[in-house]
This record gives sequence, C-alpha cells and structure tokens, in this order.
Amino acid sequence: MRRLFGGKTPALTADLQQRIRRSFEESAADEEHFPSTIDPRILHVRVILQTFGDLAGKRVLDAGCGKGRFARVLLGEHPAARIHAMDIAMAMLRFVEAPLMPCAGSLTALPYATGAFDALYATESLEHAVDISGAVAELCRVVKPGGRIVIIDKNKDHWGRLETPEWERWFGQKELEGLLRRHCGKVESRPISYWEDVDPDGLFLVWLAER
Ligand SMILES: C[S@@+](CC[C@H](N)C(=O)[O-])C[C@H]1O[C@@H](n2cnc3c(N)ncnc32)[C@H](O)[C@@H]1O
Repeated sequence: MRRLFGGKTPALTADLQQRIRRSFEESAADEEHFPSTIDPRILHVRVILQTFGDLAGKRVLDAGCGKGRFARVLLGEHPAARIHAMDIAMAMLRFVEAPLMPCAGSLTALPYATGAFDALYATESLEHAVDISGAVAELCRVVKPGGRIVIIDKNKDHWGRLETPEWERWFGQKELEGLLRRHCGKVESRPISYWEDVDPDGLFLVWLAER
C-alpha cells in the first residue's frame, strides 16, 4: 500500500479509536492547551469567515470542534446560521451550548446525511483522524455541491516542532490537496499565520475546497 503521509500509518482499529477518544476526554480539562475561546482577529478564524461569506439560514459543520471556540465566533458573526459542532469527545462537547448543535461522532463516519451542509470546516482535527483519506471522503460527502470546505492543520515539513501523540499526522500541502481533489472541483492551499502583521512560518496550512 502506498503511504500518503510518510512514516508508519497505523490502522484505525477500534482500540486505537478508543484510546484517541479517551485521550481527548482527559484533555478537555486542560484549558491552556485546549482552549474554549479564540481571539476573532486570528487569521484561522478570519479565513473561515471570509471563505463562507453570508451564512444566514445556512447549515455549517465544525468537524472535530473541540470546545466549540470557532463555532461560537461564527455564530456571533452570523446569528441566523445553523451551526452544528461534532467531536469524538463528550467532555469537549459539554462546552458547546445551544443554539450551537453539538453531536458526538467520528470524522471517519460522520453522523450526517450526504449533502447536509452548505459549508464545513475542520481546524486541527483531521490530523487526529488516522484514516485520513476516509475522513476527507466523509467531510466532502456531507457538503452540498458548490459548498465550501476549509481545513486548517499542520504542515508535514515542520514535523517534530511540537510534541505529538503517536497517531497524529501532519500533511504535505500537495498531499491533502490531492485527497480533496478526489471529491472537489476547486482546491487550493497556502501557509497561514495567526496574525495579519506576521508572515506565516509554515507550521500551519489552510486548504480551501469547493465541493
Ligand atoms: C486539537 S483539538 C482542536 C479542536 C477545535 N477544532 C479547535 O480548534 O479548538 C482536536 C479535536 O479533534 C477531536 N477529534 C480527534 N479525533 C477525532 C475524530 N476521529 N472524530 C472527531 N473528532 C476528533 C478531539 O476530540 C479534539 O477535540
């Protein structure tokens, strides 16, 4: 089997999925590393807002939402949007309150109908999915034709800069573009920094796709 992401790719067994879930159940108590808020000026938030445009009446999915920090900002900007927030860890979802719509599930088997969403984003969650091509297929499946997808994750070229659990994978720009192209017509990607006045250092990449 050809390995897309280099290194040893573990199989997504039920046991591994369970360990990942348990790890994030525990991580929810760690507010420093898994914060429940985000500064809305951060470019990771702005790129999602700019890509989606007006969300009034639209259905949006935050896939791997953690404590819902991005979803709360989106809702603040677009109160008439219907924002669903999905995560594998219940302890994370306890932070996600109405009118956001929390749901437990996995990126590799999304609990939503095909074409359910107008827009979808995943920030620093796909890197934990293990079955990356399966998760990308699922993310694309639940978005309507013409819907927008934003993925923000870390760059494989910077692997080693941070401590990572054994299942985590970072992506090459072209590798994830290739997976998205299997399902989406328009795909682009670029490095992204946190702040407008700071050049990207290459650690984070954003992928933008149109279903
Ligand atoms: C680093 S946190 C990022 C959370 C959120 N996107 C944010 O930026 O604040 C990664 C999140 O992905 C979730 N996660 C990991 N594997 C997942 C999977 N297979 N399906 C759904 N969520 C998953 C974790 O529970 C955790 O909340």
